[in-house]
Amino acid sequence: MNSKKKLIAGNWKMNGSLAANEALLRAIIAGLGDAVCDVAVAVPAPYLAQVQSLTSGSAVSVASQDVSQHEAGAFTGEVSAGMLKDFGVRYALVGHSERRQYHGETDVVVAEKAQRALAAGVTPIVCVGETLQEREAGQTEVVVKRQLAAVIHLNGHCISEVVVAYEPVWAIGTGRTASPEQAQAVHAVLRAQLAAASEHADRIRLLYGGSMNAANAAQLLAQPDIDGGLVGGASLKAPDFLQIIAAAR
Ligand code: PGA
Repeated sequence: MNSKKKLIAGNWKMNGSLAANEALLRAIIAGLGDAVCDVAVAVPAPYLAQVQSLTSGSAVSVASQDVSQHEAGAFTGEVSAGMLKDFGVRYALVGHSERRQYHGETDVVVAEKAQRALAAGVTPIVCVGETLQEREAGQTEVVVKRQLAAVIHLNGHCISEVVVAYEPVWAIGTGRTASPEQAQAVHAVLRAQLAAASEHADRIRLLYGGSMNAANAAQLLAQPDIDGGLVGGASLKAPDFLQIIAAAR
């Protein structure tokens, strides 16, 4: 068991508008009360300035959904970690399965992104997770350990500075959640791998993501190695997101 603060991060993906973001954030902030966990929203890059201003003075942190593996220069369309920092970004998702799947991000690229984020003072939320095919082939452990190993070998930064999110690809956006036992089993594997690399592994927050919702959050978050959630669909509805936050005690 551990006593660190849980983190509930919403991943808006490619959703939102100036009007919708404002309504959603106002409702979230109004409903937060004395939330005992950390809360963040990962928003599309064009809205970072808007969300920074709407969340200022609140308990909600700003996150990006990606970050470039390069520091600066001729990389059209990319957003650097330094630019994110300029907009008060606290966390950056790296290696989300949609980036790995649709944008060809390899383990090495994901590790470089994590390193760039850390160097700029932005905490990377490193996403790992197996596909259904890999799970059925008994490859879950091998796959998540390979994905995490790439990031553990970051030069110059301690792995204890990252957040890790276990997101089984088959559970993302499908309504098919990993059972608390299935999720805990993988989280225990990741924790052991982190413990072998750092004496501060206990401090590292391991989030679960994949169809987390208001109904299943409490049971998932009660597992000893589940330190929070990365929430897609349910983070777009203030009442649902608030219920998940309330479940993170
Ligand atoms: P979901 O997405 O909650 O809609 O399954 C989670 C994620 O992709 O981070």
